[in-house]
Amino acid sequence: MKIHNKRQKQAGLTITTVLSVISLLLVGSISTTTAGPVERTQAKRIHDRLIGVPPTDADLAAMEALMADPVQAARYAISNSSRRAYFYNVSLKNFITPWTNEAQTAFAPLNDYTATVIGIVRDDKDFRQILSGNEVYVGTITPSYARTNNDHYEALEANNIDLSDPSNLTAVTQASLGMAGSSTDDSAGVITTRAAGQAFFKAGTNRAMLRFTLMNHMCRDLEHVKDITGIPDRIRQDVSRSPGGDSSIFLNSCIGCHAGMDPLTSAFAYYEWVEEEDGSNGQVVYSGDPAIGVFVQPKYHINRSNFEYGYITRDDSWENYWRKGPNANLGWSQALPNKGTGAKSVGAEFANSEAFAQCQVEKVYRHVCFQEPIANHSSDIEQITAEFMGDYNLKEVFAKTAVLCMGE
Ligand code: HEC
Repeated sequence: MKIHNKRQKQAGLTITTVLSVISLLLVGSISTTTAGPVERTQAKRIHDRLIGVPPTDADLAAMEALMADPVQAARYAISNSSRRAYFYNVSLKNFITPWTNEAQTAFAPLNDYTATVIGIVRDDKDFRQILSGNEVYVGTITPSYARTNNDHYEALEANNIDLSDPSNLTAVTQASLGMAGSSTDDSAGVITTRAAGQAFFKAGTNRAMLRFTLMNHMCRDLEHVKDITGIPDRIRQDVSRSPGGDSSIFLNSCIGCHAGMDPLTSAFAYYEWVEEEDGSNGQVVYSGDPAIGVFVQPKYHINRSNFEYGYITRDDSWENYWRKGPNANLGWSQALPNKGTGAKSVGAEFANSEAFAQCQVEKVYRHVCFQEPIANHSSDIEQITAEFMGDYNLKEVFAKTAVLCMGE
């Protein structure tokens, strides 16, 4: 399942691997007695890296006692450390926040996207839900959740509410809050959150939602999936077929991204971000509910004179052209039908791919190990990815990855 190895360096049995095998054998033989200074340092490193702050003496002692199986010590840190709130409120928040804005910065307030991913991790939920689940996480304090502002989440943050405590942050259905798409069961996890709408449905042509989902959750930008052999029949009218009067530019460039991107972006045809002129009252709206009246958002039909014979989006049906050609190697699920309608099913299409799973593991690795994946860890990363595809528990990925970087 080695599908994304652009930074692979020289593999092979190095001195360090030999040494670490020897030290592992030694650890095994002494772990029945008492943990030594090495285990103590490793346990502390696991805690530091996961939680972001050093352990208390009591927590360190508890972790040391588990170091015969360091993954147990890592699980302890996440779930039992008396400082575990830092894992949720700070470490996870910083991990997730860059996915929620175009600038990809961690310096942004808590929002419904971030809180929902934090909750899914904390509650050991199937991580694929982040792109297709019905739920959103809300706190219990006022002001309560509003579709038109982020005040609720900013209050959670301002009041330092401990997000590791399930009674402070709970899952509710997006439908119960009347969120966009939920009236037709088109809730798509974070895709249909307010924060994602503000960042990626605002203005433009909704292609940004597709691009950022690809970047944040498949670890690829469009440059990586460019395929000029793609079929152009679903490229929209706004894409000129002869930019600057030169059709070869279309054939050699534009088609590479738009042939695959446009038929997927159809899934968001009923979504739009609207706000007042001064930026207030911003919210995601949905125009796919038959009870109200169904229409494709006008942004799907702008600049149609650029190429009048281009594809006209008439509903939210999407198709994944990337299943054929070079992008088949993203590992799409054979259990899914390759097409559908709406955000929820396109979210599931991404979330069930191997690239999604590998991307989550690589992101955790960068977060916990403070480095790009190194060659010596590539088989471990593959193993963790394979196991993640068995249970889709991201907390386990954090625990196992921290052990990779606990030092020797
Ligand atoms: C590397 C991938 C890539 C290539 C190549 C590419 N595009 Fe795009 N295009 C995008 C993405 C991504 C967006 C959405 C940008 C956004 O809204 O954030 C986009 C948006 C557009 C839009 C809508 C702009 C708007 O917001 O109104 C047009 C029109 C367009 N592209 C035309 C072209 C043409 C013509 C070419 C070839 C000269 C081309 N594109 C090549 C990725 C690409």
